[in-house]
Amino acid sequence: AARGACAEQGADVGTPVTVIVPTFNERENVAELVARTAAALAGWEAEILFVDDSTDDTAAEVERVAIDAPIPVRVIHRTENTGGLGGAVVVGLEAAAADVCIVMDGDLQHPPELLPVLLERHAAGDADVVAASRYIGGGDTSGLGTAVRFGVSRAATWLTRAMFPIRLARSTDPMTGFFLADRRQLDLTALQPQGFKILLEILARNDLRIAEVPMEFAERRHGTSKASLRQGATFIAHLARLRFGKMSLFALIGVIGAAANLGIMWALTAAGVPYVWAAIIGAEVTIIGNFLLQERFVFADMRTDARALGIRFASSFAFNNVEAALRIPVMALMVESWHISSVLATALSLIVAFFARFLFHSLVV
Ligand code: GDD
Ligand code: MN
Repeated sequence: AARGACAEQGADVGTPVTVIVPTFNERENVAELVARTAAALAGWEAEILFVDDSTDDTAAEVERVAIDAPIPVRVIHRTENTGGLGGAVVVGLEAAAADVCIVMDGDLQHPPELLPVLLERHAAGDADVVAASRYIGGGDTSGLGTAVRFGVSRAATWLTRAMFPIRLARSTDPMTGFFLADRRQLDLTALQPQGFKILLEILARNDLRIAEVPMEFAERRHGTSKASLRQGATFIAHLARLRFGKMSLFALIGVIGAAANLGIMWALTAAGVPYVWAAIIGAEVTIIGNFLLQERFVFADMRTDARALGIRFASSFAFNNVEAALRIPVMALMVESWHISSVLATALSLIVAFFARFLFHSLVV
C-alpha cells in the first residue's frame, strides 16, 4: 500500500537505495537513526549500511537493532581506519547493494526525513548528485555550534568554491556530508579519500550535474564531533592536492622547510652557535620535519606498513644528506670568501640547490 501511495506521488519507487552511514562511536544514536530512516523510506526498496570504525560497541549495537528493523540493516566493521570518514564512505559505496547511494551522518545531525526528498529530486532526472545544503533557502546551520565554527565553515566553503569555480558553480555546500550519488557514475578507484570532504572529492574528480535541497543541520544527539584543527589541516592539504596535484604540495612543504631551515640557522647563530653547526642542525631538523609532513599530507594514501615507511625514510634521508653534504661546504666557502652572513649564504645555497635538483631531475631522472 505504501508503495502504491508513493508511486502516485511520482516518487522514485522501484529504484533501490542504500543509505551509507559512517560511524565512529555513535552507539546511542543507532536505534533512533534506524527507526527514523526506515519510517522515512517506507515504500522504497532500501537498506542501511553502517561502515564503522568505532572503538566502542557501535557495531554490536547495529547488529542488535538490525534484528527487529523493518528494512535490511548491515554493518561493516573496519579493523583498519584508512582514510577516516572519507575512506569509510568509499568502502560503503563499494559494498552497497544498490547503485543509488545516500551518504548520511550517524549522529542525527542529518534528518533522515530528508531521504525521500533527495530521492525525489534525483528522480526528476536532471541531476546526477543531490546534496543537502545548509546554505540555501530554508537551510539552517544552528547545529554548527559556535560562531567560530560557523565562520570557519563559511570561509572553507568560499575558498573551495574559488578553487573550483566551474565544477562547484552550482554547489553552495560542497562540504556537506549528506548527499545522494549513483556509484555507476563514479570512478571509485580514483577517489583518494582522506578525512571529511568526500563530496568535494567526488565533485572535483567527476563531471557531474549537482542539485541541492535545503537542510536543517540539527544539533548532534549524543556523543561528540570528530572535527578538529587536525581535520582543518587535512582539509587544506586535501584541497591543494585536488587542485594542483601532489607535486604542488610537495613543493609547498619544501618552501616551508627552507624557511624553517633559515629560521633555525638565524636563531642558533644569534645564540652563538658556530655557523657550520647551525647549518648542520638546521638541515637535519628540516630533513626529518619535511619527511614527516610529506608522509602526513602528500603521501597519506600510500602504504603505511613499517617496511614501506622504512624504505621511504631511508632513501629520502640518504638523498637529502648527500645534498646537505655538498651544499654546506659551498655555503661555508661563500661566508669565508665573500664575508656575507651565514643565513644569507644558506638562503643562496638553498636556491642553487633547488635549481641543481631541478636540472638533475629534468636532464637525468
Ligand atoms: N567510519 C568512520 N570513520 N566514521 C567516522 C569517522 C571515521 O574515522 N570520523 C567521523 N565519522 C562519522 C561520525 O560518527 C558521524 O556519523 C559522521 O562521520 C560525521 O562526523 P562528526 O564527528 O559528527 O562530524 P561533524 O558533525 O563535525 O561534521 C559534519 O559536518 C561537516 C560540515 O560541517 C559532517 O557531515 C562532515 O561530513 C561535514 O563536512
Ligand atoms: Mn556531526
